[in-house]
Amino acid sequence: MEARQPRRSLQQRSRAKSQAIRRSRRAIKERGPSGGGVANVVGGGRRRSTVEGSKVRGTQCGALAALKRPRQIGKAPNNDDDDDEGFQAGCDHPREVAGRPQVVEEEEHSSKVKFANQPLERKKRQERLFYSEAPFPKPRPNKRRIQGEGGGENEEDLAGVMVSNEVDEVFRGAKTDLDKYLALRGLHARNPRAYRRLLVERTEEVLPYIYTPTVGEACQKYSNLDIETTGLYVTLEDRGRVLEKLRSWKNGNEVRAIVVTDGERILGLGDLGAGGMGISEGKIQLYTAAAGVPPDQCLPICLDVGTNRESLLEDPEYKGLRRRRPMGVEYYSFLDEFVQALRAWRPHCLLQFEDFGNHTAFVLLGKYRNQLCCFNDDIQGTASINLAGILAGLRLKEGAFSEQKILFHGAGEAGVGCGELIALALSTWHGVPLPEARKRILFMDSKGLVCKSRLSQLQDHKVPFAHDLEHAPDLLQVVRKHKPTVLIGVSTQAGSFTEEVLRAMCENCNRPLIFPLSNPTSKAECTFEEAFAHTDGRCIFASGSPFPPLTVPSPDGMGQGTTYHPAQANNAYIFPAVGYAAILTEASCIPDDVFLEAAKCLAGLSSDEDLERGRLFPPFSKIRETSAHIMAHLCQFFCDEGYGTKPQELRTGEEADWLQYVKKRMYNPSY
Ligand code: NAI
Repeated sequence: MEARQPRRSLQQRSRAKSQAIRRSRRAIKERGPSGGGVANVVGGGRRRSTVEGSKVRGTQCGALAALKRPRQIGKAPNNDDDDDEGFQAGCDHPREVAGRPQVVEEEEHSSKVKFANQPLERKKRQERLFYSEAPFPKPRPNKRRIQGEGGGENEEDLAGVMVSNEVDEVFRGAKTDLDKYLALRGLHARNPRAYRRLLVERTEEVLPYIYTPTVGEACQKYSNLDIETTGLYVTLEDRGRVLEKLRSWKNGNEVRAIVVTDGERILGLGDLGAGGMGISEGKIQLYTAAAGVPPDQCLPICLDVGTNRESLLEDPEYKGLRRRRPMGVEYYSFLDEFVQALRAWRPHCLLQFEDFGNHTAFVLLGKYRNQLCCFNDDIQGTASINLAGILAGLRLKEGAFSEQKILFHGAGEAGVGCGELIALALSTWHGVPLPEARKRILFMDSKGLVCKSRLSQLQDHKVPFAHDLEHAPDLLQVVRKHKPTVLIGVSTQAGSFTEEVLRAMCENCNRPLIFPLSNPTSKAECTFEEAFAHTDGRCIFASGSPFPPLTVPSPDGMGQGTTYHPAQANNAYIFPAVGYAAILTEASCIPDDVFLEAAKCLAGLSSDEDLERGRLFPPFSKIRETSAHIMAHLCQFFCDEGYGTKPQELRTGEEADWLQYVKKRMYNPSY
């Protein structure tokens, strides 16, 4: 903290600037909404599914191979073979294609907007229809103020925010997405309870402004915004007294979940230094929104170790440490002090590594995964959601998981991470030896098929997938020759799933799985519309970024036609549930098997009807129910496998089962 002292005058200056901004905002509010209101909310609704449309990288478990041979500590990543360039996170409009099916506004979207105006009770009744067993405990009417929360609010305030147009109210006068981000932060600061109601009950509407895509811009401008962090900075200057720093946190005894970043690779935006705090703050909200972790148990942390971004170092407003990032021993010993201090402070706390640079992410995961309850979402969560997509997709077609041949277009960290988890699944569930399982998975990178003849040039993480095959430079050639049944795009090469490629996929099987996962939308290997049109509607589809649904007119031109929904592979289905299950069972660590189980469970949660319409995952509006089921499954798994402890209430029979147990412990802002 001392290191920040000299900059106080700067902060004071920025505070003065902030006050001026606040005054002008008040003036805008007093003038009333400038046409933004409802229209903005509509926009927000449409973008709700971009929650995890971020750039996520990583190899994983199985990047085991890479983990076993970590790059030399402190050495820059090996770029011999690859294009390691970043890309922008965000949400673009889908490209227009002169296609056959008609693109329509998302059904759910319009019903959701109506839904937003329905009384709360009706909304709750609808939610309960999703799963009948073990309903959430009935919220009591909010008759009292909770001590210590939301200073200044009164019952009218709360009731006011609970009425139907609450989101419109909060966003009144906000013109840009960033304004909405700020408006939500403002509400959080003024009235945490009201904010948490929105977070939990209107998750889909507010999430695009709390998390991706807006959070990327917020991180870039973090030092220039009129905000006070809700998280904890631990800086290089805290060396030697990190434990003391952690202990200084206001709700220290409550903390059970931490998201930590060092800001080196924020989404696709690269090194944002201390601005990375925005990502920890954004992601931790998903723990509450999606899995019901009580907010007081959540702590976002940014390790401020400096930045290598010149523009930040030169920005007089930049509030982080003004130094370059340390490398090697200096960096890793600081991380070590942080992790050991955390273990001493909160021994059963969950730690999620988020948006670390690739070259440190694998080393850190490899080093700490068996020491404490931690995971890396970029690496492990991504792999799990993609495996879930494949398993759900296979419910729609003939042929077992073990019979699939999978081709990844792109062999970066995300792709190879997914490949490794799929191989682990084949080995764990079907008894296929791991090296044999990997042979069923092919990778292409910018230089063509990853194969044995390229071994000497390959990056570490690709080596286990360099099979003894003839090299081929071109995707179409590989599809025709090797006949994959699943095609996954993680190449960031827009349009690379051409009509010819998609038609060739249809020759390999009746219903090919086509997953163009590259983000943002402008990088997607194909659109939903293209995939649908060029496979004559036979593809099973999931994308990284959201696409609008398609309505195919009925053959006789009568009636409404049939609407198909593209699935979005969103990590938020996985990581909050994994994290809270680990917390509830006080798990000692989170092995890769947990991510297999999470994928398997999620893949079974969509109804057959939803699947037929393309929804490989339950709608995000049901995320709490979905998470509850995944958590119940994972809690059982943690305990059965000896990683976690069964709570007293279940041992004595005081509570019937895990589902009831987890639901009772999901935060409900009505209490
Ligand atoms: P990366 O930059 O590490 O890897 C990109 C890979 O694409 C490299 O192997 C590169 O060689 C390959 N590539 C580049 N040009 C190519 C070409 N012309 N043909 C074939 N391959 C080519 O990126 P990373 O982290 O692996 O992510 C890739 C994409 O996947 C990103 O757009 C990311 O947003 C997306 N993603 C989506 C997720 C989701 O939907 N949940 C999760 C993780 C990543």
